[in-house]
Amino acid sequence: MTDHFTLAETAAQSILQRTCLRPQIGLVLGSGLGGFADSLNDSAKIPYAEIPNFPLSTALGHAGQLVIGKAGDVPVAAMQGRVHLYEGYSAQQVAFPMRVFGRMGIRAVILTNAAGGINLNYSQGALVLIRDHINLQSVSPLTGPNDDRFGVRFPDMTHAYSKPYRAMAREAAAEIGMALHEGVYAALPGPSYETPAEINYLRVIGADLVGMSTVLEVIAARQMKINVLAISCVTNMAAGILDQPLSHQEVMETGERVKTSFEALLRAVLPRIEEAHEAESQ
Ligand code: HPA
Repeated sequence: MTDHFTLAETAAQSILQRTCLRPQIGLVLGSGLGGFADSLNDSAKIPYAEIPNFPLSTALGHAGQLVIGKAGDVPVAAMQGRVHLYEGYSAQQVAFPMRVFGRMGIRAVILTNAAGGINLNYSQGALVLIRDHINLQSVSPLTGPNDDRFGVRFPDMTHAYSKPYRAMAREAAAEIGMALHEGVYAALPGPSYETPAEINYLRVIGADLVGMSTVLEVIAARQMKINVLAISCVTNMAAGILDQPLSHQEVMETGERVKTSFEALLRAVLPRIEEAHEAESQ
């Protein structure tokens, strides 16, 4: 069987052949948040089905294409949609796009997701910077023999969510007059939403947000020393907080509602991250 490194390298080369841009920043746009990629200039749109070895998203609200284009002056590679464990993919497959980003020369990723709000200070539509995570998905993309070309066997996760990037995001939010919370994201396998008892448990163990994505991507990204910024959109308050059932439709509708402010935040933060890279590589 071909190893993941070679599979990722093949995918990366096929992507780079389709554009002259060489982005250093990757974006993953979660449920209902994919619209940002449509606003990129000079873009090449590559359906996942045309990228060798790339997993195909089946979730509603995930377009399933990689858009490489410019946000203002900043070249980015933006994934419109991702795959999840609950679709039946393995942890390695879920993290595969990060491996491809790594082989494309991406040095920073901005991961976004729809999440349930556990922290009672949040409300529907709030944007939250992820400060840390709790992986309750019981799996890791690093399980199995380690491929040292990706990174070390035991990557440090103390600074998984870059502190300087979080400061940049807060600055960007302040500049555009937007409130931005910060919190801990707990990832569960899904696909059923949580029970109220599970939400109480998650609150007790220190979670502010709950979702079904992101953490496996972060683990793979950090093994490759890709810096991470992650932002959740609180599409709904978590189960049992409000006396109403949760639905995917509500998740999508909230994503649609916050779209404008969410995209403004991305636009404001991207030049800051790009600038930090330029300073670093001088
Ligand atoms: N729970 C888990 N995942 C989610 C939720 C939720 O309440 N909302 C959006 N994604």
